[in-house]
Amino acid sequence: MKRTRRSFICGNWKMNKCQEDTYNFVHDLVKKIKQIPNLKEREIGIAPVFTSLFIADSLLKHSEIRLCAQNVHWEDSGQFTGEISAPMLKEFGVRYVIVGHSERRKFFGETNNAVNKRVKASIKNHLSVIMCVGETKEEREGGHTKDIVKQHVLEGLNGIAQDDILKYLVIAYEPVWAIGTGLNATVDQAVEVHKFIRELLNEHFGQGTGGTVRILYGGSVKPENIDGFMASEDIDGALVGGASLDIDSFLRIANFR
Ligand code: PGA
Repeated sequence: MKRTRRSFICGNWKMNKCQEDTYNFVHDLVKKIKQIPNLKEREIGIAPVFTSLFIADSLLKHSEIRLCAQNVHWEDSGQFTGEISAPMLKEFGVRYVIVGHSERRKFFGETNNAVNKRVKASIKNHLSVIMCVGETKEEREGGHTKDIVKQHVLEGLNGIAQDDILKYLVIAYEPVWAIGTGLNATVDQAVEVHKFIRELLNEHFGQGTGGTVRILYGGSVKPENIDGFMASEDIDGALVGGASLDIDSFLRIANFR
């Protein structure tokens, strides 16, 4: 299949891997990634913990693999104990930041408003953003999937210009019930929401936006199901948690067919 948008496979390591494990993984990844044919047509990224960014960056210097971070604060500096800003991430060669992940929403009280501020700060600092959206099991069962996704998308992108969206934004549709559960969404379920997000983007940010922005699927992606997801042209890639922690598993996902 000839893709209209460049595919993107990103590993979200969450709170895993100290420096030694990061070193071993990235060192191997840089060597083994070259085995993947059509690598130029794919973007591959990893999002280690903040404390591993330095070591990962040092190994990725001459590689095409994108270094990503798992969060970013909306101010460049200040009295925000425990936070990290966009200029600080950029020092490590970070290219993308993940914002609005459901674990941040669930465990750390992340609101759409905070997500919006993080997206704006990233754009201001020329960092690309992977903005996560998705419904919980209760919300899906109650028939509210589209309402929730709409809120996440529109409030997360409130006040952001079309040009910036086109240049910096990637959306990850991650149904919360599929994250870390082994129970992935079906391709049809993912495609239905991806199409809905594209319509929203066209309607609220201008025609053409929905056809340009990349939308990844996330939630129990593994070597066994990646090819099925990538067979759909509405799914531009994957945000991969658990299955990105093992090098062979991650490489197989990056090498989707
Ligand atoms: P999972 O996590 O692949 O372990 O389900 C995905 C994510 O949270 O990004």
